[in-house]
Amino acid sequence: MERINEYLGRYKGYSFALGWTTPEYLDALHSFQIRDSDIFLVTYPKSGTIWTQQLLISICELSGGLNEYPNNREQMPWLEFPGGREDYALRPSPRLFSTHLPPALTPAGLKEKTAKMIYVMRNPKDNIASYYHFHKVMDVMKNPYSFEEFLEEYLAGNVPASSWFDHIREWHSVCDQYNILYLTYEDMILDLRGAVVKVCGFLSKNLSDADIDKVVEKSTFDAMKEDSKANYAFYERLRGDFMRKGRIGDWKNTFTVAQSERVDRILEEKLGDMNLQFIFE
Ligand code: PPS
Repeated sequence: MERINEYLGRYKGYSFALGWTTPEYLDALHSFQIRDSDIFLVTYPKSGTIWTQQLLISICELSGGLNEYPNNREQMPWLEFPGGREDYALRPSPRLFSTHLPPALTPAGLKEKTAKMIYVMRNPKDNIASYYHFHKVMDVMKNPYSFEEFLEEYLAGNVPASSWFDHIREWHSVCDQYNILYLTYEDMILDLRGAVVKVCGFLSKNLSDADIDKVVEKSTFDAMKEDSKANYAFYERLRGDFMRKGRIGDWKNTFTVAQSERVDRILEEKLGDMNLQFIFE
């Protein structure tokens, strides 16, 4: 892995927190054996990953059961981080995975379109604010001196998972190559029940109205904050809360007007042709 700085490495043009994975492990993922029943959650960091994990795990638990794991991270591990976990080939179905990888580094078998994938996008300003605060509490990441400095690194793609703009473009450009449902963090905030119904439809899970209500109840910010399997308080690398604010528009507490306008301009330049809608407040 090419070393970018004390915290960051790059492999095949994509940035990782140093020490979290290896080129050999990543290369081996190309031939990772996919099962039809696999469910993959794909996100850029800080876009609603652990929220959607809770939603998917709750849906699967209520619709036929899942093997028990100590927490959501073990239940739905990040594919790209080996971390000494057991051989995934031995896991019972359905297997649930999370990933921040770009399309080029994901298992080739996903293109068979049998396994189901869900991509969650969040508006870039809240994404940036959330990622900035996360850098301050996560021990393997560079603790930025100022938001200004972090913003420069983020816009240059010098953060784990590289450029948000590239991630969004790449994953939206391959929509016809995968069996993939696109959701947004903001739609989940504005209508969580609607998102649960959409996901159930996509996964062909026939939940009763009462069970859908249960999924919604378990996935609210307040419920997750108290749920020791879901809130990542168990995560030993954190020096603060994973569940921070959970809102749309909190970026206004971090951005200056000039910084906000700059992101608007870059967003238009980089993704203006993609016909994507962003909700900022
Ligand atoms: S990571 O590190 O990539 O796994 O982070 P990720 O889970 O993608 O993003 C963390 C942000 O999601 C918020 N979150 C929620 N928002 C609303 N409702 C629920 N239930 C929920 N669960 C997590 C979390 O608070 C982080 O956002 P910020 O803006 O920092 O609060």
